[in-house]
Amino acid sequence: MNNKLYHNLIFELSHNGREGYSLPKNEFSRHALPNSMLREHPAELPECDEMTVVRHYTNHSGNNFGVDNGFYPLGSCTMKYNPKINDEIAGNRHFLNLHPLQPEETTRGAASVSKTLRKALSEIIGMADFTLKPCAGAHGELTGLMIIRGYHESRGDTRRTKVIVPDSAHGTNPASAAVCGLEVVEVKSKDDGTVDVDDLATKLDDSIAAMMMTNPNTLGLFEHDIVRIVEMVHQCGGLMYYDGANFNPLLGVCRPGDMGFDVVHLNLHKTFSTPHGGGGPGSGPVGVRDGLQAFFPMVNPYHGNFLVELRALTYILTLGKENLMKVGSLATLNATYIKEQIKDIYELPIEGLSKHEFVFNGLRDKSTNVTTMDVAKRLLDFGYHAPTIYFPLLFHEAMMIEPTENESLETIDKFIKVMRQIAEEARTQPEKVKSAPHNTPISRVDDVMAARQPVLVFPENKL
Ligand SMILES: Cc1ncc(COP(=O)(O)O)c(C=O)c1O
Repeated sequence: MNNKLYHNLIFELSHNGREGYSLPKNEFSRHALPNSMLREHPAELPECDEMTVVRHYTNHSGNNFGVDNGFYPLGSCTMKYNPKINDEIAGNRHFLNLHPLQPEETTRGAASVSKTLRKALSEIIGMADFTLKPCAGAHGELTGLMIIRGYHESRGDTRRTKVIVPDSAHGTNPASAAVCGLEVVEVKSKDDGTVDVDDLATKLDDSIAAMMMTNPNTLGLFEHDIVRIVEMVHQCGGLMYYDGANFNPLLGVCRPGDMGFDVVHLNLHKTFSTPHGGGGPGSGPVGVRDGLQAFFPMVNPYHGNFLVELRALTYILTLGKENLMKVGSLATLNATYIKEQIKDIYELPIEGLSKHEFVFNGLRDKSTNVTTMDVAKRLLDFGYHAPTIYFPLLFHEAMMIEPTENESLETIDKFIKVMRQIAEEARTQPEKVKSAPHNTPISRVDDVMAARQPVLVFPENKL
């Protein structure tokens, strides 16, 4: 591989005068800009021949890692395979070229897609209806809390300004509550990792608007007291909000609506096999139980990410009811199999039945000083994406593994073998693990420098 092309910025490959572009003929008339808006000097753009540009970006694109490249056990994120048929359907020009302001009589097919998806999600989750407008999980959370706030306000119950959030919750839960103008009250987890019902009882009064819960929670544990928790919150007049980011293991097994939840968001880009993108295009539909439909707020001027919805519907219809019913169980089986095969060498802080993901607290043998970060970096050498590390915050060396239901036994067995090999290396040659990765284009980067000292433009003196 040509390392220079591989590492350089396009600006460093630039040569004055080496332009190689041709633009289509301008079919529109010219509109002069006022002088105050014009540049004083021409823009300093890279000047490269076409082959250099093609090789540069092709080589860089090879640095990306996705589910299509290899195993991607990123806990909490459900990086499930996106079947290619999803893209094929979404690429159909009749859908692709729609405009949100097109006359209604020309978009009946699209409206029917949205309606069918809303119906399917309602049945899968056990809700009365869904809005497809929110564009991410966190956006769904905000939408859901706005629904809850609207409900209380409609009853003149304006004292309900607090939202209960377990200490194991994803950071977006308290953040969404705060953005919605609600106060966050934290409830503790017990030693077994689930919500402490006794602690919850002390937090309940007529100032509680809602409780947000992820089930299974961020440790991958099913909240076994869920029915009691729902009863307690309902009794004090609050509503139950289900963060559906972890819904994958329950798909086909049980329904949040049947557990008593009132409002639910789903991450289509997790459970329903649509792309995660770089923060988008996501989709976080919000479902409500009967009686709450009137409180759907305006959170998007148009229809949400329609082509993402179309992909999710394609996934649901391709699998069909029978296969959809197997997803949750297979996701749980795969995760449990990995956990059981390596828990003798990686520390499992909470024993017991977990679902689609589980959390280790680093290696069991702490005498090697090999950290979770080191193990994650060494995994890159074997062609894997690293698991989620240092989240949830309940353990110092958290390593959260989620294989999803799609992986074959061979892939999972190979991963187990590599995890065991890394543990052995940590014992016999710790420096090899501590200095990993060795096979990637660059080795360890400073994790925080890019955030603390961002370089957002190419320095002029290097041009
Ligand atoms: C439990 C949980 N809730 C909420 C979210 C937020 O979802 P999004 O990233 O789509 O905004 C995530 C994302 O990872 C999550 O894991």
